[in-house]
Amino acid sequence: MSLLRRKRVEDLQREALTDQSLHRALGPWNLVLLGIGAIIGAGIFVLTGKAAANYAGPAIVISFVLAGLACAFAGLCYAEFASMIPISGSAYTYSYATMGELLAWIIGWDLILEYLFAASTVASGWSEYMVSFLADFGIVIPPEWAAAPWDHKVPPDAGWNLWRVFTEGWTRTGAILNVPAMLIVGVITVLLVLGIRESATFNNIIVAVKVGVILMFLAVGVAHLNPENWQPFIPPSEGPGRFGWEGVLRAAGVIFFAYIGFDAVSTAAQEARNPQRDMPIGILGSLAICTLLYIAVAGVLTGIVKYDQLDVGAPVAVAIDTLGSGFSWLKTLIKVGALAGLSSVILVMMMGQPRIFYAMARDGLLPPLFARVHPRFRTPYWATILTGCFAMLLAGLLPIGLLGELVSIGTLLAFVIVCGGVFALRFTDPHIPRPFRVPVFWLVCPLGVFFCGWLMVGLPPDTWARLLVWMALGLCVYFLYGRRHSVLARQGADHREDTR
Ligand code: ALA
Repeated sequence: MSLLRRKRVEDLQREALTDQSLHRALGPWNLVLLGIGAIIGAGIFVLTGKAAANYAGPAIVISFVLAGLACAFAGLCYAEFASMIPISGSAYTYSYATMGELLAWIIGWDLILEYLFAASTVASGWSEYMVSFLADFGIVIPPEWAAAPWDHKVPPDAGWNLWRVFTEGWTRTGAILNVPAMLIVGVITVLLVLGIRESATFNNIIVAVKVGVILMFLAVGVAHLNPENWQPFIPPSEGPGRFGWEGVLRAAGVIFFAYIGFDAVSTAAQEARNPQRDMPIGILGSLAICTLLYIAVAGVLTGIVKYDQLDVGAPVAVAIDTLGSGFSWLKTLIKVGALAGLSSVILVMMMGQPRIFYAMARDGLLPPLFARVHPRFRTPYWATILTGCFAMLLAGLLPIGLLGELVSIGTLLAFVIVCGGVFALRFTDPHIPRPFRVPVFWLVCPLGVFFCGWLMVGLPPDTWARLLVWMALGLCVYFLYGRRHSVLARQGADHREDTR
């Protein structure tokens, strides 16, 4: 039964109101901009083109609507939890209050896949954009210092054979280390240690740059639309998952990555000035703005270039090329926008991860070092520095594809559990004050579980295999450390002593 011990929501609410160790510096706009910072990045600047060219054609617009809908269900549930339990730890803390310690640990461990691995994935993408940007100005970074030393492609017939998934398909790239990726992670780590306000201000500036660049692309693109490029809107099926409605659904799973990040807003709950009101604004506001921008970009992109030409790493730049040499300035600007976009994703993901570690360490499930707050900067500095070191290692050594798939499956699992948790808590603790309530929860929560679960089912077996191995590793850590050091377990033991 000890695995099912739960934290009381009332205790968490009291803790949220009295705990001042982190700096409450963020207002509603900061939170919306943090969300946009975390959302718009590699997904729109890299993945959209490949998804349109290989799976959905111009109907990628519909894929964006579908993935946006799945995220909207999850976003509503996050908003209810974050306003009800406004404390750092996000889905980890919500699970602790609803489904018990073991599941909370599983979710906390799972969120590492989302935040830490997303930061590393996006840092690898940042490095590619930076190398190409500097090359435009004649500055060449030696390729052996700008890529991971290994690449990994799972043999297509490996299926559930774990041994083959993990040992086969590795190749040497000839590179030594991805230094630019490590550098950007290092710089952001320092910034995050220095303070939440400084980090948020930096985020606000880069979000303004990336959104400005996207709006400029839309303005120029709308004037050059060729409606013939939208024909056929849903190209006829060419086999399983390639075009047709099945392709539209497959593309929704791929571009789901583009939406990841709105939930990171909830990790800053303890640094928000008025979390009960502002958390839902931050989560839902950023999600709504990005959904609109994504649908517009997807429509314009496929309206100025035929979708079959978009199977490239920089689809927006390819679209601008078709507009003629008069627009080369916009191409440079797009690179600046992409670099800004990717930087803010790294920033917010690396802000979220230490705050989850912080919450887990305060509950005794991780060593106390992770909960240490810097006396002057009031940031969880050890957790931030350790996150930075792990992210640097991953970004420097591992290929981007391997990391990216794990991010999507890890995030979807968290979404499923959060939607299920909101639903369960409405029955187990119906009277707890909920400043924000999911409308028609009996429909929205199950739909969230269904949509996100269904996107998970669409991911390949080797990604599932990696998820299971990661979770097995997490369970070992829990039974060797967390279970024995859990604060709740110790409180229970004291209580039993007292009542003897
Ligand atoms: N949504 C983030 C991105 O697209 C993870 O980069």
